Amino acid sequence: ASSTAHAFENRELVLVSNREPYTHERDDGEIQVVRPAGGLTSALDPMMASIGGTWVAWGSGDGDGDVTDEDDCVRVPPESPSYDLKRVFLSDEQVTNYYYGYSNKVLWPLCHSDTSKMTPNATYWRHYQDTNWQFADAILEQVDPEKAVIWFQDYHFALAPRYVREQAPDTFCMQFWHIPWPSWEVLHTCPQYRELLDGLLANDLLGFHTERYCENFLECVSHALDADIDRERGHIHYDGRTIRVAAFPLGIDAEERRTLAASDEADEEWASLREQYHLPDDGLLAVGVDRLDYTKGIEQRLDALEHLWEWYPEYREKLTFVQKASESRGEIEEYQQLQQNVEAEIARINDRFGTDDWTPIVYIDDHLSLAALAALYREGDICLVSSLRDGMNLVAKEFVASQVDDPGVLVLSELVGAHEELGDIALTVHPNDTEAFAATIEKAGEMQPTERSNRMSRLQEQVEANDIGQWKRNVLGEASVLLEQR
Ligand code: G6P
Repeated sequence: ASSTAHAFENRELVLVSNREPYTHERDDGEIQVVRPAGGLTSALDPMMASIGGTWVAWGSGDGDGDVTDEDDCVRVPPESPSYDLKRVFLSDEQVTNYYYGYSNKVLWPLCHSDTSKMTPNATYWRHYQDTNWQFADAILEQVDPEKAVIWFQDYHFALAPRYVREQAPDTFCMQFWHIPWPSWEVLHTCPQYRELLDGLLANDLLGFHTERYCENFLECVSHALDADIDRERGHIHYDGRTIRVAAFPLGIDAEERRTLAASDEADEEWASLREQYHLPDDGLLAVGVDRLDYTKGIEQRLDALEHLWEWYPEYREKLTFVQKASESRGEIEEYQQLQQNVEAEIARINDRFGTDDWTPIVYIDDHLSLAALAALYREGDICLVSSLRDGMNLVAKEFVASQVDDPGVLVLSELVGAHEELGDIALTVHPNDTEAFAATIEKAGEMQPTERSNRMSRLQEQVEANDIGQWKRNVLGEASVLLEQR
């Protein structure tokens, strides 16, 4: 970080996220380290490992076995410790109301413009406020705010920057919002829109994945608050301060993914995956990798596949689809419903087209190691990303980086953030246009090796040029400039 962030030299980086990068869980008395699913923590852990500092997060597991709840600070990553993980413990009531409630039953559907799933209430809101206070306090206990750069991640902490600033007015705060920012019409449906905007404007720097989300944010501020907005420069003058808003498209550690996909470990994992799930030796393999979330368009993807097998019968026994699904937010009814629907749909489609020798859709809900995932991506001839809304979608980038053999085809929803970078080179689909989606899968299946390899090398250039290292340099570089101007 020193070359990009010299103004940080005597400041400590403090990263704040809801999800912790490593969860210690007790299993038969033994402590196991689990890495949670989801793009955010897996993208940021390598960055923290290289920069060092402190990561503050909700301690959702059992702790590491030899510390008390009072001061759970451990060194991670477990294999080569390089930064501190400070855990904030939450009561069941907080988890219900702050995490499942306000974060995931209000802000998540709101920001993904699915307001019919939004259920705001005063209890959720109160706990969201209280928990944001608790995090602000935990941060201020842990570090000297004058000597830190506090970097909030995501929608769980729209208010914490304000609470930090109220107690330590000169702290440098920044935030990256990993999910979409909606239009003003959508934001307006949430009763707390003013407080949310005001909380975020306590940051010095506010980042989104795309220009579109930045524009939406500026538009919301212009309607809701008394602020001066310089759209050209991405500046908001509010409450006597200037806040910079900018787009920083998140990337992955492309090199790590590529190396892993080419490793012996991936070969071994692939052999056992094939055996365990009876995957066919020949034909085409299409893959989908998602957290089980209603924003991912998994049902729309299944519709398209059913349509494919119906209207292009030559694709029966030719194209097999593997859906890797990670269970997510299982206490929320919408998520339980989704899981049931997805499993029932897969069973129905398999029943409709399956034969004694062929299962059209293979569903994997077991945990896969990174090497097994790399193998699955590598072997995939087609990757289907069909989100209805998605801040970025790193699966698209992970698939691309893992194509070390025969190049596959990325089929990408035009409704994901990654489409701004990759949309011109991938095959684009609209998840709700079932027929065109099916025809695009067919087109991917028919694509000639030269075209596949042309497209894939351009995709790889893009994913490698805008990798996690570049993202880090962009964000921290911008922060350094702002710090120097102070
Ligand atoms: C998305 C969010 C992350 C979140 C992840 C997993 O990627 O942007 O903040 O951590 O989903 O969801 P979970 O609720 O399990 O943390």
